[in-house]
Amino acid sequence: MSAREIEADAAVIAAHWREEEYISPPSRFIGQAYASDPAIFERFAEKNFPDCFREYAELLHWDQYWHTTLDASRPPFFKWFVGGKLNVCYNCIDRHLPKHRNKAAFYFVPEREDEPIVALTYQQLYRRVNEMAALLRDFCGLKRGDRVTLHLPMTLELPITMFACARLGVIHSQVFSGFSGRACADRIVDSRSRVLITIDAYQRSGKLNDHKDKADLAVAEAAKQGVDVEKILVWRRYPAQYHSTTPMVKDRDFFVDEVLKNYHNREIAPEVMDANDTLFLMYTSGTTGKPKGAQHSTGGYLAYVAATSKYIQDIHPQDVYWCMADIGWITGHSYIVYGPLALAATSVIFEGAPNVPDAGRPWRIAETLGVNIFHTSPTAIRALRRGGVDLPSQYKHRFKHMTTVGEPIEPEIWRWYWNVVGKREAVIVDTWWQTENGGFLCSTVPGIHPMKPGSAGPGLPGIYPMIVNENGEQIAPGSGVAGNICIRNPWPGRMLTIWGDDERFVKTYYARYNNDPKSKDWHDWPYFAGDGALQAADGYIRILGRIDDVINVAGHRLGTKEIEAACLTVPEVAEAAVVPVADEIKGALPEVYASLQPGVKASDQMAKKIVDAIVDEIGAIARPRRVWLVPDMPKTRSGKIMRRVLSSISAGRDAGDVSTLANPEVVEELRKLVQNKPR
Ligand code: PRX
Repeated sequence: MSAREIEADAAVIAAHWREEEYISPPSRFIGQAYASDPAIFERFAEKNFPDCFREYAELLHWDQYWHTTLDASRPPFFKWFVGGKLNVCYNCIDRHLPKHRNKAAFYFVPEREDEPIVALTYQQLYRRVNEMAALLRDFCGLKRGDRVTLHLPMTLELPITMFACARLGVIHSQVFSGFSGRACADRIVDSRSRVLITIDAYQRSGKLNDHKDKADLAVAEAAKQGVDVEKILVWRRYPAQYHSTTPMVKDRDFFVDEVLKNYHNREIAPEVMDANDTLFLMYTSGTTGKPKGAQHSTGGYLAYVAATSKYIQDIHPQDVYWCMADIGWITGHSYIVYGPLALAATSVIFEGAPNVPDAGRPWRIAETLGVNIFHTSPTAIRALRRGGVDLPSQYKHRFKHMTTVGEPIEPEIWRWYWNVVGKREAVIVDTWWQTENGGFLCSTVPGIHPMKPGSAGPGLPGIYPMIVNENGEQIAPGSGVAGNICIRNPWPGRMLTIWGDDERFVKTYYARYNNDPKSKDWHDWPYFAGDGALQAADGYIRILGRIDDVINVAGHRLGTKEIEAACLTVPEVAEAAVVPVADEIKGALPEVYASLQPGVKASDQMAKKIVDAIVDEIGAIARPRRVWLVPDMPKTRSGKIMRRVLSSISAGRDAGDVSTLANPEVVEELRKLVQNKPR
């Protein structure tokens, strides 16, 4: 489907939406909020850009103050806080010790309820991070600028490893634990990591999952692609026990807890980094097959996530904050680890699935720990609602603030979140942003704006969004007409570039609406997000979803091309096309259409083989709802597969006018096949 067609679809959807009513933030929340004075918008108005962002950077400790707030001399490679020097680990840990040494930095909640919750104080975190940094430096020989791939689940070892890297100026690249060994290999190769850090196993969905096996696969695959991993560091989920079926390879695999004994109580001075040095890579799916490494900065990124944690998440030192995302995604990096800890908060890390053993689990955790700020995705909210519409009412938790992120939230689901989970006492922010952005871009400021179910809200202070049509013309602000959302200005949290591919960076996010590639004026370089959106008269933005070949499954981006490439690893598959289909819980799921090589018979086994290939190549997160084995694909005369037609068939809709196709007769055949099969 072309962007134009999708946009047309989006506009039709928009026309069917009604405006939702406003809901005021609870006055108790406003009374204690960090941001309750609308003067903040005056301070961050365009006439004060870019210096308005100084106040974000001033939340941090700088070893050397910067001389230039924004260097925009080489658009779109913007640099923030130029000349400034700082260390992220120092800012998130060391500087809090005098006041908060004995405060919990993290609560670790194991999935199994019979295992105790662990509180890790700032002092303990300081010790463990220093010891790990010593190990990375002295045992692995890692230094500033080197890359390390982490493939870790939700345990304390993940942020400890991230901070140890940050302390040394080593660039971490954490791969979501649900991704396969092969997906991990691609990221090892792209980042050229010579060390992989993993764990033997972890608890998830009621069982102990082998994880080290993926590391062996990843390293073997990376070697095939020419990158040799020298060391695999293996944390152990339960000290001194080993729960993986794969053997430890001599001189390559090492148990971290054993090696750490040599670094007991060691202290490592934090490396003084430039504001525009790279802190980490976070790979995300794009329109072409290869995932791209969003390369995030040190100073701009930390300033942005600290400030948005303060003003949008409203995290005060006395709050207990729980973001239920996975640290393996950008939400976890920015809003479980770096943002909250920059503010000396207490952040909860939960190992498990939210509805295991039952949908009351999150509310029990919230009750036990006194969580008062809760942050999750529409997918989780839908799943918890299905687990018991009245269940949250049976628990005594009290939230002051709740966040939703990652996908559009239906107003009905929003209202359940507000009425039942938040008990009408918790303000809600619907935060729109992306892996590339570092932190929130659109949201209400919770102590200032009223809420509107289903709408993210206006641009954050200092973020100037606009909606643009296909020709690059700005759609009248507040007109409610759908188009592509862009951010007109640079902001400190935005990634520096795509790792190793400046050209793709410019092409993906800027080329589309830049009219003068030579321009040195940032006004000529709007950031193109790839989402359809519209802006209502009140300035609130409603996000319609992706306009490119990306499927948003449970708030996580999967490229249709990646999934298609996985299908084609099955030798019997001739062609594959992947389309998103609506799913009640996860928002969308991929559905696969595959045609087989001549002479190969369609069978359930063949469909299973394709599913297995996808899970193997990418991970269980990409498991399709269904694989349709078809005699042929609907194609244009130039031979392009018409995904739009396939997605209409999957959705049970009329495929529209197909007379211009090269093979219109196949549409009816597919329709019969798909729409007559029970689901
Ligand atoms: O389509 C938008 C959707 O998620 C995409 C970004 O995905 P990712 O980079 O994985 O980051 C997810 C967490 C920040 C966006 O292009 N999206 C994100 N937040 C929202 C959203 N759609 C609607 N409402 C949101 N609040």
